[in-house]
Amino acid sequence: MTEPRPRVWVSQPLFDDLVARLGEHFDVVAASDITQYTPEQVAHHLAQVDGALVSLNEKVGAAEIAGVPRLRAVCNLGVGYNNLDVDALSRAGIVATNTPDVLTETTADLGFALLMAAARRVTEAERWLREGHWGPWSFETMLGMDVHGSTLGILGMGRIGQGIARRGAHGFGMKVVYHNRSRLPQDVERDLGARYVGFDALLQQADHLVLMLPYSPDVHHLIDAQALAKMKPTATLVNIARGGIVDELALADALAHGRLAAAGLDVFEGEPQVRPELLALRNVVLTPHIGSASLTTRRAMVALAVDNLTAALGAGPHAGEPPSALNAEALKAAGFAVGGKKIIADKR
Ligand code: DGY
Repeated sequence: MTEPRPRVWVSQPLFDDLVARLGEHFDVVAASDITQYTPEQVAHHLAQVDGALVSLNEKVGAAEIAGVPRLRAVCNLGVGYNNLDVDALSRAGIVATNTPDVLTETTADLGFALLMAAARRVTEAERWLREGHWGPWSFETMLGMDVHGSTLGILGMGRIGQGIARRGAHGFGMKVVYHNRSRLPQDVERDLGARYVGFDALLQQADHLVLMLPYSPDVHHLIDAQALAKMKPTATLVNIARGGIVDELALADALAHGRLAAAGLDVFEGEPQVRPELLALRNVVLTPHIGSASLTTRRAMVALAVDNLTAALGAGPHAGEPPSALNAEALKAAGFAVGGKKIIADKR
């Protein structure tokens, strides 16, 4: 008798031709409609399968994996993985993976687009024009802040942060200051044209501040009323990391009362819900978490997640060596010989 094929769950509709690759090795249960799952539904699906490919909307924590006898791999579609409890997965011997590298430049592009749109009031001006307000021309219509030659602040100088620094320093002649858990090597700083500063100095010096640090409870509401009060009233704030890093009510208040000029937000604490206090403001550019949303990059993310899942379940050319595993210990527990260089920690 032949062994039954492992079964995998794909939680959201993705590119069919890429998902079909899973069918070469596994029985695939794939969602045909975009679905918002309850935690119980996630747990139910995970209990039926050997591996899962999930999006940022599916939280996988200790509760969701409490009764999953077969589950061996959870592969995330995204570089950020705050929807996964990697410690709980490791304790259960379940391999966790993410999708770094392939989205770096696309996400940096969006960060820069938000920065420019917020600083130069692009969406506000467009709405104003469409609403028919463009009467006699005024020399003071929609005055914004310059991007070129200004000071770009970056909080979180991983790969995407560095992509933004390169765009700012080399494309727009900006002075770049950054703050990060650890300082970059001097030669990297030199190539990027970036200078390391303390957290407060970053807030005080930036004309445009971009947030690109991974979310963890330690940085919850790191940008709160106190932090915002240290920024220039003419500054712009861009968040392409995770919504929970910013106290959104404090931000809305600062924007409404002229203590901050503008903001560009791609991520929200309660997404897909956006606070009415933000929706009501004209000086904030809002996008629905589209940092990595170019066709090429989204396909590359799915291809990488498919490779991760295939390899984590011991199939395909890289069996046992998923390209971007987050928990080497789970791979070892699964009996794979772990070649150090194949295990890539989060380098976001
Ligand atoms: C990620 O990969 O973490 C991004 O936020 C998804 O666009």
